[in-house]
Amino acid sequence: MLVDSHCHLDFPDFQPDFDALMQRAERAGVGMMVSIGTKVSEFDRVLAIAERFDNVYCTVGIHPHEAAAEPDIDADRLVALAAHPKVIGFGETGLDYFYDQSPRDRQRAVFRVHIEAARKTGLPVIVHTRDADDDTAAILTEEAALGPFPGLIHCFSSSRALAETAIGLGFYLSLSGIITFNKADDLRETVKTLPLDRLLVETDSPYLSPVPKRGQRNEPSFVALTAAKLASLKGLDESRLAQVTTDNFLRLFTKVSR
Ligand code: NI
Repeated sequence: MLVDSHCHLDFPDFQPDFDALMQRAERAGVGMMVSIGTKVSEFDRVLAIAERFDNVYCTVGIHPHEAAAEPDIDADRLVALAAHPKVIGFGETGLDYFYDQSPRDRQRAVFRVHIEAARKTGLPVIVHTRDADDDTAAILTEEAALGPFPGLIHCFSSSRALAETAIGLGFYLSLSGIITFNKADDLRETVKTLPLDRLLVETDSPYLSPVPKRGQRNEPSFVALTAAKLASLKGLDESRLAQVTTDNFLRLFTKVSR
């Protein structure tokens, strides 16, 4: 069984053929999916899908792009929303200095709110980081000094230095279709050196379709393409890779029961 640890099932992109794509995921061996929140104001929409399917879980949080739009969030509100049995983590949150859609100080403040919620509950924080490795590493390190919290760098495509910091703090790293992209040789070299017991796979669908689906809408069934590439980079057969990444997922996301 594979797990798509990061998708956005509530996005309108999936509306036209939702039931068919859920069936394709099942046929591709995707036994569980985590539908990731991007706005607290739209959390109901995310939760509704998780409630409808036994094998869909979700997270609650505010994407760094939305940090300015939803400034009033506090950790207690996130913690309260995560009391629902299908809510298994916080995010996605973090820093995006590539698009800079929210002011950086707001991004940093909202990121720390999510970390506080993770620390209070022991549920993982799902981190988005783009062109912000230094600040992401600094915030994770500072916050960890205040007390431990579990977490995941999603769609990992950063430097080896950030990987080492994150792993040193006990974090996991999730790999997306980016590892199949032609230009991603540096990332593939980094991935070869990452510890197998810290790796997950994801689609980030509807974005980032893996080769050979690149340019098309991504969907959870395509996580099998990313898993196959990761298996070859690690010199494992695909069933072993599926087992290891699923075990890692279950170790990190402690609210999920098999
Ligand atoms: Ni995402």
